[in-house]
Amino acid sequence: MTDAIEQVRQAFSERYGHAPTVVAVAPGRVNLIGEHTDYSGLPVLPIAIERRLFVAAAPREDEAVVRVASEQFETPAEVVRGVANAPVHAPWHRYVSGAVGQMEGIAPGMGADILVAGDLPAASGLSSSAALAVGLLAAMGAAWGEALDREVLVTRAIHADRASGAETGGMDQAAIVYAEAGHALRVDFEPPARRLVALPAGIAFVVANSGVEAPKGGAARDSYNERVVGARIAAAMLADQIGLDLTNPPRLGEIAGVDVVDILVDELPEKISPVEVSRTGAAGLEQLVQLTAARFDHMRKVPVRKLARHILSEAVRVDDAEAALREGDLAAFGKLLNASHESLRADFGCSTPELDALCKAMRAAGALGARLTGAGFGGYALAAVPPEQVEAVIAPAIAATGGPAFEVHASPGLEVV
Ligand code: GLA
Repeated sequence: MTDAIEQVRQAFSERYGHAPTVVAVAPGRVNLIGEHTDYSGLPVLPIAIERRLFVAAAPREDEAVVRVASEQFETPAEVVRGVANAPVHAPWHRYVSGAVGQMEGIAPGMGADILVAGDLPAASGLSSSAALAVGLLAAMGAAWGEALDREVLVTRAIHADRASGAETGGMDQAAIVYAEAGHALRVDFEPPARRLVALPAGIAFVVANSGVEAPKGGAARDSYNERVVGARIAAAMLADQIGLDLTNPPRLGEIAGVDVVDILVDELPEKISPVEVSRTGAAGLEQLVQLTAARFDHMRKVPVRKLARHILSEAVRVDDAEAALREGDLAAFGKLLNASHESLRADFGCSTPELDALCKAMRAAGALGARLTGAGFGGYALAAVPPEQVEAVIAPAIAATGGPAFEVHASPGLEVV
């Protein structure tokens, strides 16, 4: 990695005519299991990977402007600090202005020159946007002599990431900041907690591109937000059934442990719109649509029963998968990945024919289990594979979609050098 950092420093100096003072190294993440659970306050089990973004930065004292060039994208971003609504010439500029906005009040008057490089593919479900936000915040903080504390960094990166308009949860940022080599990171949100889970010998991970892009700022955003709204509707209606105080409707994670919930889920309407729910009094329209308000059709019927069924069952699979890893029961772990994919496909509805075919091909080639990873609607699939089968699984994955497909290793989280 030192070579890669040196290259970024050099490229930075060539572009700006002076050396960077800091390089933040922000990894991508692959979620092993616990998909679409985080925004309901339910657990996730991701790893960080050795595909990374390098964010090199140097402070500028002459003007409060943050300039960000990227080796991956052509048009640089330029954000004047303190000015809302910076011009967006490319989708990734939203994350830049989101991150700069999160530095409001920190080292006011300072600007920065920044270069982003690395080998983490964008719009693929490997968390390039969260890595960008985390890397930018860490680099700006360090360059301005005001390094953000890790908890603050995670929270601000979550807000910066939401600049895309997707009401994402907090999994990606926690994984990127707190992951450690050789371990998965179990993250709980209700109440917040984290613990490392050592990965047993005998398991390797392959990720494979489905060939369909899933940009969080694009079509995938609306599909994602619809599911976030669906999860809120389900939580509000279940809380109403149980007789909870609805002033602040809970998230599914707050009621998942209540005995009757599993039965009540089957009694949720198959589809219902936010407007219809607000008429029942279970929750106000605003509480249901929140950030999405301007973009969400309030009359749109959302398949709440199936969404809730996936989310609640997926949370149980996270517990079971963690136990399987701790016990070294890799066959059980693989089956849980397959069950997660099936639930995401049939109940949650975020798989695609390409992702299904990819998972099938990798299982047939000897994977212990395979599932889509990340938000879905395209992007990457993950396979857990016996180490000696890695090549045997990569080849058919590439044949199925054209690739890329490659092995990933559980890697360290954010480093600032
Ligand atoms: C995206 C979001 C995460 C999470 C996943 C789905 O990656 O950024 O917060 O919701 O989708 O598990």
